[in-house]
Amino acid sequence: MRLERVAAHVPMGARLADIGSDHGYLPVALMRRGLIEAAVAGEVAVTPFQSAVRTVHENGFGRQITVRLANGLAAIEPPDRITAISVCGMGGKTIRDILDSGKAHLTGQERLILQPNGGEQPLRHWLMNNDYRILCEEMLREKRFDYEIIVAERTGPVPYTAEQLYFGPLHMQARSPAFLLKWQRLLSLKKRTLTNFSRARRAVPQEKLQEMARQIEWIVTLLDGPADTQASTCAE
Ligand SMILES: C[S@@+](CC[C@H](N)C(=O)[O-])C[C@H]1O[C@@H](n2cnc3c(N)ncnc32)[C@H](O)[C@@H]1O
Repeated sequence: MRLERVAAHVPMGARLADIGSDHGYLPVALMRRGLIEAAVAGEVAVTPFQSAVRTVHENGFGRQITVRLANGLAAIEPPDRITAISVCGMGGKTIRDILDSGKAHLTGQERLILQPNGGEQPLRHWLMNNDYRILCEEMLREKRFDYEIIVAERTGPVPYTAEQLYFGPLHMQARSPAFLLKWQRLLSLKKRTLTNFSRARRAVPQEKLQEMARQIEWIVTLLDGPADTQASTCAE
């Protein structure tokens, strides 16, 4: 389901670079459906790299999908003429670091389809600081985990507020049931953590306590807002 939702954001006819492709399922599934023109599957680790090579060859896509053993965006080469990049199933900070250290491999024309497992806030910060507009945000829950998908394109400076970077600007507008449920769950968790911090024998830095209290305040304000507005989680 998670990769199906990611796949839905890959533009028809794209030349996709799937970074951290592991088994290579995403590019192979898209190619089998005739939805992309070509792909690069990048992997930093040998075992998943070999697994991607196997999936690609078993499906007969050796000419259309290039599997490269490479760190992050170094898997992309100019002749690949990549138009979309997916980085999925990693922490938001890891995805941010992959984008930041691989800037030289970006033309700025690619659509980014990112699926962080947590750490969405630092990833959104990077997108804003690098002139990317968030075009779509999705939230889904699978096997008791909340997953987010962030789709972005470089369009020029976009000023997001601190709250928008924390919750997601389009999620804040749409207020989907999945989004509100995630933050209800996180509110209870954060309140418990704050109580435990206050009881802890070893002093927790004041800054950390203040940051958590501020986040709790933001979440309470968010949840106090109107119910599901049914707005789209994709920008017009
Ligand atoms: C949990 S898997 C996710 C696989 C797939 N993208 C998905 O969403 O199902 C993360 C994969 O990213 C790879 N990876 C982590 N850091 C990477 C990097 N800097 N460059 C390329 N691949 C990386 C790991 O080796 C691993 O195979």
